[in-house]
Amino acid sequence: MHYIESGAGTPLVLLHAFPVDARMWNPLRIRLEDQLRVITPDQRGLGESALDGLSARNVGAPSGDRSVTERPSIDLAAADILDLLDQLELPQVVLGGCSMGGYVAMAVLRAAPERVAGLLLVDTKAAGDNDEQRTNRLNVADRAEREGTNDWLAENMLPNLLGRTSHEQRPEVVAGVRELIDAQPAVGVAWAQRAMAGRPDSTETLLSYLGPALVVVGEEDTITPPENARELAAALPEGELVTLAGVGHLPSIEDPDMFVEAVRPWLSRIS
Ligand code: MLT
Repeated sequence: MHYIESGAGTPLVLLHAFPVDARMWNPLRIRLEDQLRVITPDQRGLGESALDGLSARNVGAPSGDRSVTERPSIDLAAADILDLLDQLELPQVVLGGCSMGGYVAMAVLRAAPERVAGLLLVDTKAAGDNDEQRTNRLNVADRAEREGTNDWLAENMLPNLLGRTSHEQRPEVVAGVRELIDAQPAVGVAWAQRAMAGRPDSTETLLSYLGPALVVVGEEDTITPPENARELAAALPEGELVTLAGVGHLPSIEDPDMFVEAVRPWLSRIS
């Protein structure tokens, strides 16, 4: 599994959204690495991480069994993260995730709550997919395998991935996210969609997590809107909620200064 790491101190592991990679956290990394050890993995099949040969923990298959890639799951993506923590000899980390990264973070919490010293959920939700969403994902996965992802994936996703203000006022952010989407391998895109399609509801997992938790949401997020964030914060016994104005689904890229200002006090308190 490929990951980017910098800084020293309390480890903060940040899991990226779909369909981008660990580089989405770079604007945050350069602002936090003076305070924390920031570790950002690429999810299986995306960025520079391999699709095959990663963890088979919790999926009943021997490690390296190629057939595991035929059974994509968010639990398997979480197992990859737990393997990385073992490899880095980190018994506990502050774990954060944006959107799909949040789904994976909740799956890590389900599998190994003792590894999570604090939880940062950004523009994500606890609910699984309904039938229509699941069908859409499987169609996107099939199309990615058939045609590759050039042009159409970014065209389809960009309007909703970024907030209205970013589309109107931050052309460099729009261009940067398009570049990240275009760089993703089609097989990884297909794998991630199939994995997300099968994910369970995580509400019970959140209800039983007694550690510190911060939920952040962009006010202009149309994929996982503020209502989803309120539900997350309400489910988490120690949940706090921050809503950021002028940003959408990827607030840490859209306005990293505002994002850091919002999360730094919480990070300082728990690290
Ligand atoms: C993401 O940003 O990771 C995706 O929008 C998540 C999803 O498709 O549910």
